[in-house]
Amino acid sequence: MYPRDPETGRLIRPIRIPNDQIVTMVDRFYEKVRAHSELGPIFNNTIGDKWDHHLPKMYSFWSSVLNSSGTYSGNPMAAHITLKEKVVPPNFGQWLTLFKETLDELFVPEDVEFIYGKASNIAQSLSLGMFYNPASPHHIPPEAS
Ligand code: HEM
Repeated sequence: MYPRDPETGRLIRPIRIPNDQIVTMVDRFYEKVRAHSELGPIFNNTIGDKWDHHLPKMYSFWSSVLNSSGTYSGNPMAAHITLKEKVVPPNFGQWLTLFKETLDELFVPEDVEFIYGKASNIAQSLSLGMFYNPASPHHIPPEAS
């Protein structure tokens, strides 16, 4: 297991994840997303024929998140708030399941833990931003298996 930052409790990965692995991860993940019965239509209807634009954005997002490369500049929260009418809370569990499946295919367990930890934290905050309602406490529901 990678060491943890004593102050934040976050895992510290001593070396960068190579860019070609990030590209493969993103490409495979969105192949799965596009084939998924619920997520596929959400992404395809929103992104349409702009996948050539979305995928490179996601390469730079993940290289910024995983390697602190600083190459991504965007506002994921704002992008997802505009999807509120199309997305339901269980979509987050589905998203995370496909992401974990992709990681298990490509990375050693230590890296799976590191990358999945980042994704699930971001998913949690996006989901809270989209759906949190103090009158109706929300958490990401586990997917029925
Ligand atoms: C229910 C789960 C999710 C759905 C349905 C979803 C859907 C989408 C869609 C349709 C877009 C394109 C928006 C547009 O171009 O107008 C998008 C953008 C994006 N998503 Fe998600 N997403 C989900 C979860 C996540 C998670 C968990 C992450 C990160 C770990 C993430 C990161 C991003 C980023 C970085 C963008 C690009 C924002 C920008 O334009 O700069 N998404 N998402």
